[in-house]
Amino acid sequence: MSTIGNAHARTSLYRTCYEWNAALGWLVAAFIMTGMLSHSWSGLSQDARWIYIALVGYCLIASARNFWQAYPVLKALSRMFVTGMLFITPTELRLRNMVGKKRGDKLITYDEDQEIMLGYGFEWGPEHTNMAYQINNMDTRRSQIVMPLPVRWYVQQHLPETRKMGGLPWIYNIGKAELQYIRADNWYGHTLITGNVGTGKTTLIRMLSCGAIHLGNVVIAVDPKNDKDWRDAMKAECDALGLPFYSFHPSHASTSVAIDPLRNFNRDTEIASRISGVVSDPSKADPFRDFSWYALYRTTIFCRYVGERPTLVRLKKYLITQRAALFDKVLSRYMMLQFGADWWNQIGEEVLKLGENDRLTGLVLFYETQMMHRHPEEACDEACAAFRHPYEHYQKMTTSLLPLMSNLTAAPLDELLSPEYGLDSDRQIIDLKSLMDTGGVLHIAIDSLSDAQTAQKLVQLIVADAAGIAGSRYNNEDQDPATMRRVSLYFDESHAALCEQLLSLLAQGRAAKLEMTIATQTIPDLASKASEAVADRVIGLCNNWITTRVSDPITQAKMAANFSKVDVEQRTVMHSQRTDTVDNIDKFSGGISENLGTVEKEGFPPNLLGDLPKLQCVARFADGRKMMLKIPVVLREAA
Ligand SMILES: Nc1ncnc2c1ncn2[C@@H]1O[C@H](COP(=O)(O)OP(=O)(O)O)[C@@H](O)[C@H]1O
Ligand SMILES: [Mg+2]
Repeated sequence: MSTIGNAHARTSLYRTCYEWNAALGWLVAAFIMTGMLSHSWSGLSQDARWIYIALVGYCLIASARNFWQAYPVLKALSRMFVTGMLFITPTELRLRNMVGKKRGDKLITYDEDQEIMLGYGFEWGPEHTNMAYQINNMDTRRSQIVMPLPVRWYVQQHLPETRKMGGLPWIYNIGKAELQYIRADNWYGHTLITGNVGTGKTTLIRMLSCGAIHLGNVVIAVDPKNDKDWRDAMKAECDALGLPFYSFHPSHASTSVAIDPLRNFNRDTEIASRISGVVSDPSKADPFRDFSWYALYRTTIFCRYVGERPTLVRLKKYLITQRAALFDKVLSRYMMLQFGADWWNQIGEEVLKLGENDRLTGLVLFYETQMMHRHPEEACDEACAAFRHPYEHYQKMTTSLLPLMSNLTAAPLDELLSPEYGLDSDRQIIDLKSLMDTGGVLHIAIDSLSDAQTAQKLVQLIVADAAGIAGSRYNNEDQDPATMRRVSLYFDESHAALCEQLLSLLAQGRAAKLEMTIATQTIPDLASKASEAVADRVIGLCNNWITTRVSDPITQAKMAANFSKVDVEQRTVMHSQRTDTVDNIDKFSGGISENLGTVEKEGFPPNLLGDLPKLQCVARFADGRKMMLKIPVVLREAA
């Protein structure tokens, strides 16, 4: 019942349940009359007996009627104090998401009207705000609410479960919860999930990622905590629906797939940009990073010139230990192309003479003096320039690049991130572009990486790869966007992944049909990894924002700001007393006045965000809905 604009329409939800008392009264009356009837049955005439029976019947009917009316009130009262979890089986979830008999590629839907399940809940409106403020003004034990015995018993029975959920049960229970769906195209707006640890972020992502699989999307999940339930739920879904599931997991290297993050590039500069972007924030000036970029760029073109595929391991080797060997390889190949396979027999002697018996110095001098002007070659020009660059300076300028390369190539990442194609190995090699073209689910668990920094760098590299692919999907004029597969990227504990590339991926995702979901505990978490401006940009770039219980006041305030202000009822009571001894010793006046007015308040009281029970959330969606939701836990399918 809305109370807006009508000061006389008072909500009656949390009142004493008179119906219950009346029902009990009628029942007691029926009981007494039955007793009297049985006691004096033999002495009564037939007519009197019928009258008594009719009266007992009337009492019973009146009692039943009052119980019937009391039931919703009792239910509402108990819901003030009781909450619990919701569970859903994978089969039920498939049913809700209308998967039907679709399997494999048949799941892909290009229909933007397709909807998937969001959970149970309701749209939060002014009526809920009003009720929330009323209840908020009660004392902690809510002693204003008079609970009949059965309600007290029911609440007591459910106390352990309610305690387990934490928070205040009534917030979700003041609305009429229904099954809620969301149009799939809302997710293009990207999604931010915030919430304290253990309040349900991963559980929510688990259900949403299963929904994405049901839509036939490619799913890439970056999971720093390696949540087994999440991985198993996606794998079970893939198995059931005939989709490939890939698991990248350095701590189980023997069964992990290998990812090739440098496979997809259009220009040599892209590899250099991708790796140097991980060295430091590309949006800020950094001469060390620029130098590293150039060193990487050179090494990439050398590799390509000598016919070797640039991988992280190879780049590291040529950047650190085998620089000179690579220069030699480049110049030797050049000479071979110029003079034929027996080039050393033809010019070897002259080269050694020029280099005073140092082969590499000789090759450089030979190229510079005799070949450079007639038959220039970019790779050789760069090799000679790099050769002449003072080594100490090179080492100093690449101080941040070399540890990064070492991190990303230390076992087992050497095998898992720098795979060699065509080797006789059972390990499956995937790259993000092929995955996006052919479909499937990739779960990336980085929990086992010894230091958080390596894990962070790895995620940044993968994000940079995805950003590169997004760019080429976006620019590919041959492909009709309508027939591109949708890609859903999930980043749990995403503050580790926050980097400029992630922001650019958020910014251009939609055009490339990429939808991202990033979960973090609080907004200041994001700000501390980058800056407040970046955190605000993330909020701005994510049209959907879902928060479970969050105690951080900044996050609370920013979420509450999404709800428009509401006029909330405010009752003012004034008592006055006056005695006057000037005119007359017993002159006394007194009064009481009561006013019901409205005052503008926040649509969702921010402090309530810190009082949400586990697995309940407040959300704002791209389609404009502001909702209060309960997240169902996706169960494992019974064997
Ligand atoms: N299958 C399940 N059965 C019972 N409780 C569960 C199940 N899955 C999750 N939960 C509950 O959900 C809570 C939230 O977990 P989680 O989603 O991992 O939180 P977060 O990712 O926010 O840290 C857990 O504390 C746990 O109590
Ligand atoms: Mg989690």
